[in-house]
Amino acid sequence: MNYQTLLTSLENNIFIITINRPDKLNALNKNVIEELSAAIDEVYNNAEIKSAIITGTGEKAFVAGADISEFLQLDKNSGESLARKGQQTVFDKIENSPKPIIAAVNGFALGGGCELALACHFIIASDNAKFGQPEVNLGLIPGYGGTQRLVQLVGKSRAMQFIMTGEMIKAEDAEQYGIVNKVVPQNKLLDETKEILQKIHSKAPLAITKVIECVNNFDHTQQGYDFEMKKFGECFATEDVKEGVNTFLEKRKPVFKGK
Ligand code: COA
Repeated sequence: MNYQTLLTSLENNIFIITINRPDKLNALNKNVIEELSAAIDEVYNNAEIKSAIITGTGEKAFVAGADISEFLQLDKNSGESLARKGQQTVFDKIENSPKPIIAAVNGFALGGGCELALACHFIIASDNAKFGQPEVNLGLIPGYGGTQRLVQLVGKSRAMQFIMTGEMIKAEDAEQYGIVNKVVPQNKLLDETKEILQKIHSKAPLAITKVIECVNNFDHTQQGYDFEMKKFGECFATEDVKEGVNTFLEKRKPVFKGK
């Protein structure tokens, strides 16, 4: 598909989605949200795509937030609708994607940009990346899931401080807090992210999908453990588990079919 605000490419079964509004630091306007939704649909539906990377154009910004110029016309109802539409059509769809989606954060990840990275299955960041939820500076709060996903990653106190102060943190601090999995030099960001995904591609795809489902279904109660048991059982209905177990016993490399 051709997009106005995204660049896309497919390399070794990895779909690279690059948000491309460099003059506005890749801010998420309506058009970007709609096109991101369509690009994520491609991830779900195109069998050639085994995983995806979301990144931003240039070396300055991943995404500097929702597009602030669209905010003046909003009221209570249209504000809620904007958040709901974004969450349902993009952020939740990324989080629940059956195929891995990794954020390669190449600069500012602010507001909706930070939330976009948080919705991905995990984050790799360049050494110049900066994270923040500065919505309080505008009289706002995060609306694309930031108050919820951040708590899960960094805990309640840190999330409170991060969102209430609106301060930006450096990539290395984000790594220490558990927001970012790995910080790498800017010129290695995409290669390192692709390398991780190639490793995941060598595993059984249905097992990877079940890992995503179980981890997303994390729950302090018995319900989370019950869900994992059910998904563990389902693995034994796949051809890939037979291949994986037999090849271990026969000391050869597995070839998984995603069946
Ligand atoms: N929405 C719309 N436009 C944005 C934007 C956003 N979230 N973030 C940056 N831009 C635009 C700027 O308006 C500017 O456009 P212009 O050249 O037409 O005036 C362009 O991107 C470059 O940004 P600029 O502010 O000049 O760059 P900078 O290096 O001085 O500052 C930031 C970079 C990221 C610190 C600053 O742009 C910023 O604070 N952005 C808003 C972050 C934010 O509050 N995000 C949460 C929104 S809810």
